[in-house]
Amino acid sequence: MRVLGIETSCDETGVALYEGGAGLLGQRLHSQVELHAPFGGVVPELASRDHVRKLAPLSRDLLAACGLTYRDLGGVAYTAGPGLAGALMVGAAFGRSLAFGLGIPAVGVHHMEAHLLAPMLEQDPPQFPFVALLVSGGHTQLVHVARAGHYRLMGESVDDAAGEAFDKVASMLELGYPGGPRVAALAEDGDPQRLRFPRPMTDRPGLEFSFSGLKTAVLTCISRCPPGQRDEQFRADVASGFQEAVVQTLLEKCRRAVEQAGVTTLVLAGGVAANRRLRHALRQWADASTVTLCYPSPELCTDNGAMVAYAGWRRLALGEQTDLSFAVRPRWSLESLSSEG
Ligand code: KG4
Ligand code: ZN
Repeated sequence: MRVLGIETSCDETGVALYEGGAGLLGQRLHSQVELHAPFGGVVPELASRDHVRKLAPLSRDLLAACGLTYRDLGGVAYTAGPGLAGALMVGAAFGRSLAFGLGIPAVGVHHMEAHLLAPMLEQDPPQFPFVALLVSGGHTQLVHVARAGHYRLMGESVDDAAGEAFDKVASMLELGYPGGPRVAALAEDGDPQRLRFPRPMTDRPGLEFSFSGLKTAVLTCISRCPPGQRDEQFRADVASGFQEAVVQTLLEKCRRAVEQAGVTTLVLAGGVAANRRLRHALRQWADASTVTLCYPSPELCTDNGAMVAYAGWRRLALGEQTDLSFAVRPRWSLESLSSEG
């Protein structure tokens, strides 16, 4: 079955074609970075409007590049949640209507399931069961994955998500939007040891995360530094020290989760999984232990249509489909998929 995947949950318009047996046929991505940059963050209404503008041309362009037409599709998958309600509705309305017009099935995909399954698109996909660390702008979760569709939440952030912390520190350092990649780039020039920030919740047992105290520690550190001394090196050291605190915290919780679950494979996914320092630290740990670490290429970590096409194809191939109502779920727990599926 050849499936068109549609991602519009936040600030990227992504479309992709996935076909069983053949794999990923192609994908297109339009980033709204330039649109939101003047506002320092995502403006939901502007995001929705831009998805409306871009979705049809991107889909037509993708099909043409693959030598296909809408008639060659066997199914449509769209992100139904979690995400920005208006942005989700654009993808859902487009995808569901397209499928209705073509007389083919459609399925609403869980955005975090799509992230979690993205490594399946790579050459060496992870073997079940595994533990997944999902780190995005809205989520920081450790999930036990018995098999595709069967998820048990092991721990999550009690406040800010890791990506959100990156974005807020970017704003403190006046780096603007998009925050995470800018903090990561600045951190490359910094000394990760000069300013030591707390590694939240690593001093007690458990798999919960909290990044709000770390964020406050960074703010306090910046405000205590006299303005005249906030030079480039200081800013880079703040970025680097902050990034190191996040990375070491995530690493410690992954180590615990893998041990607790009794698995030997760890999957890293979501936008923050594109972070080079995080990938490197987890790789070093995995190589020194018996853990197999899998993460997708950076382009498949941040939001994209390919992961939605794959996750949707898998569900459609199992005979699942969404009815004509095309409801979206801005809040939607990943665990609920286990009972629904
Ligand atoms: O998965 P994603 O693209 O969208 C959501 O589902 O939220 O994740 C976006 C998040 C943002 O908070 C962004 O700042 C962060 O991922 N991010 C990064 C990097 N690239 C994206 N954070 C740290 N380092 C990066 N290289
Ligand atoms: Zn995402």
